[in-house]
Amino acid sequence: MPDSLLIIEDESLLGAELQRHFRRDGWEVSWARSIAEAENLLLGETLSPLVVLSDMSLPDGNGLDLLESVRQKNLGGEWLFLTGYGTVPDSVRALKLGALDFLTKPCDLARLDLIIAAATRSGRAQRRIAEHSAAAARRYSVDSFSGDSSASNAARQMLTRLACVPYSALLISGETGTGKGLAARILHHGGIRASAPLVEVNCAALPHELIESELFGHEAGAFTGAKTRRRGLFEQADGGTLFLDEVGELAPDLQAKLLKAIEDKVIRRVGGDREIALDVQLIAATNHDLAEAVAARRFREDFYHRLSVFRLELPPLRQRREDIRALVQRFVAEFNLKAGKKIRHIRASTWQLLEQHNWPGNVRELRNAIERAVLLTQGDADTLQEEWLQLIPASTPATPAQGSADLLCLPLDGSMALDDMDRHIIQTALARHAYNVTATARALGTTRETLRYRVDKYGLKPVVREDG
Ligand SMILES: Nc1ncnc2c1ncn2[C@@H]1O[C@H](COP(=O)(O)OP(=O)(O)OP(=O)(O)O)[C@@H](O)[C@H]1O
Ligand SMILES: [Mg+2]
Repeated sequence: MPDSLLIIEDESLLGAELQRHFRRDGWEVSWARSIAEAENLLLGETLSPLVVLSDMSLPDGNGLDLLESVRQKNLGGEWLFLTGYGTVPDSVRALKLGALDFLTKPCDLARLDLIIAAATRSGRAQRRIAEHSAAAARRYSVDSFSGDSSASNAARQMLTRLACVPYSALLISGETGTGKGLAARILHHGGIRASAPLVEVNCAALPHELIESELFGHEAGAFTGAKTRRRGLFEQADGGTLFLDEVGELAPDLQAKLLKAIEDKVIRRVGGDREIALDVQLIAATNHDLAEAVAARRFREDFYHRLSVFRLELPPLRQRREDIRALVQRFVAEFNLKAGKKIRHIRASTWQLLEQHNWPGNVRELRNAIERAVLLTQGDADTLQEEWLQLIPASTPATPAQGSADLLCLPLDGSMALDDMDRHIIQTALARHAYNVTATARALGTTRETLRYRVDKYGLKPVVREDG
């Protein structure tokens, strides 16, 4: 699709020349001859141009006022003004409203081309960011936090309420895989800061000596290796959210600096003496008991209290088993879509297995188990095959117990190729069902045709018996 350019110009000679020129360059050009016409196109959202090239004073109004209304509606597009009577206050107002440039007529086409090229680049970048935040907002709605337990209902309620509260810091705690990262994304993308950046940093993944300059940036020459000035993650998150994962790993001196950054809303780059004013919302996550760390003097009490004004606690999955059904349904649907599978049914015995498992890795472990089972379930089968969940009960030995003739163990250490597993599963199932095709197909959740095709493909013997 060609990029679209809107020209707002009442002089017909100039308008026609610009239209011809940019059409030749491959633009899809629209030409509005008055403010009213442009207003209809832009505010009525029939057109969302990448670049707008506008005259300033038109017979029925002013281009600057139009830009102001466009910005109030949060509509994008790079604006350039091309005017014969521009004054300095006009150009100041244009730039304040976010116009990219303010040109005076006459402007030769070669120069205009250069400026339009720059506007195109930044217009495209803006559009990508807008599309990305719109997609993230859809993906991370409050409803993406699944579960019917009272804990999950309370979490969703809290996430909804926090979306419209201008808090400066919040602490999410919970074991690994309980959804802390998901909650942080919902908070950002569903909140008032959604159009600004969400910057994520894992405190445990960065070496202590690097973390300060990562967070706060540094000036050139601040330390060996600091060749140029660098903006830190805090600055990159300005206007938005900084998500500090595993905050319990942070050294106390950095905790103090972070506390100052959120209380005073200023930071100082490493090696810099200037304070930089910033507006960042901090979401911290931890899978440790921070109160205990405070008691052991590993975590600063003042920072802990600042963080825990707003708290979200996510209990382990084994304490909210009512969530399992909704989570499984969500993940089956997700991986059906990703892998083109058609799983619709889950046997009662499979539900029992899922609901009794201890889930030490919480929702992440459940999601991984469902991913594996959906991906490895036979092509067009509509029932989830529970052997692929490979849930090994913590308290029982790994060998199948008595009476579990419908269980199968396979190595997942790379020693067996997927095709060999497929062959082995079919062979074993056939043997267990006395080579009865119908019974074997049922046990594998597939059709007799598919099974027979694979038996032929793998040359499985003895020749299979038809229904018995
Ligand atoms: N309630 C939920 N509904 C849907 N998906 C969830 C839910 N909770 C967690 N998940 C999914 O489970 C996976 C693990 O969650 P997440 O990464 O948020 O855990 P975490 O608490 O941040 O873990 P860690 O401490 O290891 O970083 C993610 O894919 C996440 O989307
Ligand atoms: Mg996480």
